[in-house]
Amino acid sequence: MATTRAIHLQTEIPGPKSQAILERKQQVVADPLSIYLPVVVAEGRGSTLTDVDGNTFVDFAGGVGCLNVGHSHPHVVEAVQEQAGRFLHTDFTMVPYEIYVTLAERLLAVAPFSGPAKAAFFNAGTEAVENAVKFARAYTRRPAIIAFDGAFHGRTLMSLTLTSKTHPYKAGLGPFAPEVYRVPFPNAYRGISAEAALEALERAFTTQVARETVAAIILEPVQGEGGFIVPPKEFVQGIREICDREGIVMIVDEVQTGFGRTGKMFAIEHFGVEPDLMPVAKSIAAGLPLSGVLGKAEIMDAPGDSAIGGTYVGNPVAQAAALAVLDVFEDEGLVDRAERIGETVRGRMISWQEGHPARPGSGDEGAGPGARLPGDRGGSPARPAPAEGRRPFQLHPGALPARDHGFRARRGPRRLGRGARDRSRVAVSAAPAFYARARTALRVLRCPDGHAR
Ligand SMILES: Cc1ncc(COP(=O)(O)O)c(C=O)c1O
Repeated sequence: MATTRAIHLQTEIPGPKSQAILERKQQVVADPLSIYLPVVVAEGRGSTLTDVDGNTFVDFAGGVGCLNVGHSHPHVVEAVQEQAGRFLHTDFTMVPYEIYVTLAERLLAVAPFSGPAKAAFFNAGTEAVENAVKFARAYTRRPAIIAFDGAFHGRTLMSLTLTSKTHPYKAGLGPFAPEVYRVPFPNAYRGISAEAALEALERAFTTQVARETVAAIILEPVQGEGGFIVPPKEFVQGIREICDREGIVMIVDEVQTGFGRTGKMFAIEHFGVEPDLMPVAKSIAAGLPLSGVLGKAEIMDAPGDSAIGGTYVGNPVAQAAALAVLDVFEDEGLVDRAERIGETVRGRMISWQEGHPARPGSGDEGAGPGARLPGDRGGSPARPAPAEGRRPFQLHPGALPARDHGFRARRGPRRLGRGARDRSRVAVSAAPAFYARARTALRVLRCPDGHAR
């Protein structure tokens, strides 16, 4: 069985214990909760997961972008245990607690707002997006929201309406929320320039929605689900200018790009613009459910009394984890580390072009680059087939790939691209901590015979 210093496989994958649990799951868990990686976890440590059969994998999925400090970081575990021993819940608006205020102070201290800013906390990323829309509508007293092709903002009513992809997220689940309008996102690979995308947005004010009725424009500073698309700087700056000109709130969805993933604390910092509102979630609390909206104080203060809230929002145990995550970021210099690791990964990906039909992501930032691989069914002009003498990509069986990027775990070596649905990029975007194993990661990503070197 395959072994590296990080990976240890001692059964077929999935092993017998995993299989038995997954068979029980079939009987009692709703089918839409389909499993991408058929190994049942027993323990997570740093960048590795060990399953119930005793197999240890490098975890490329990272809880879908939630584990930028790695699995069960000791400082986070200690903070969670300490808070759980004191109290679990009061509902902050019924009986407030200090940790909520402290977390708001610490997050705002690292967030890219030059003037007065405030925070509100929720549970999931989708709630942060829903509430960002509420803040924007209350502030502007306007109804309409503009979102982009390829966007992903969540799976509840407003956020699902803002999400672009029909299958698997939207088909059959409408009707969706009214007053959402969609325009193209720049994408060099598909021939959409920043200029063309900005022109389309300006045209939409004539053909789709009156400019004076638009409350917010929402964008991901790097589209994740849309294919790890980094927009040109002039596009993001152009959106800022349009928002300023038209009195529109600029919502920058940092749910996935936040917390060091791109080599800055927040991805918007790469573009030299300041957002008005910023939904954050995922890696904020190392896997505990916590999200928030950070934003300019006058916008955050706009909704009426009790118009924002919820029984469980801003749970103190999750907030204790979030404070510990901020400590780990400072103590271990994770933002700088993400930048360095991004350089290593990007350099290696570029070298793959020599022997393989892969394209590195252009302009990818920090520890979140992607590579475009054959199997892309997105209608791209260039869809390279493996040339004579070129080896297909294979993934080591001990690498658990990121779900968002379309690979189903199978037995034995997996060929990248073939298992993909309609997704065109493979992510090696993972936790900075994960990249303590960066060398192993690169080896398992490019492992022609399915065995580690
Ligand atoms: C950019 C973005 N926004 C919002 C969400 C929704 O977050 P959640 O799944 O926590 O509701 C996601 C989730 O992947 C996301 O990537």
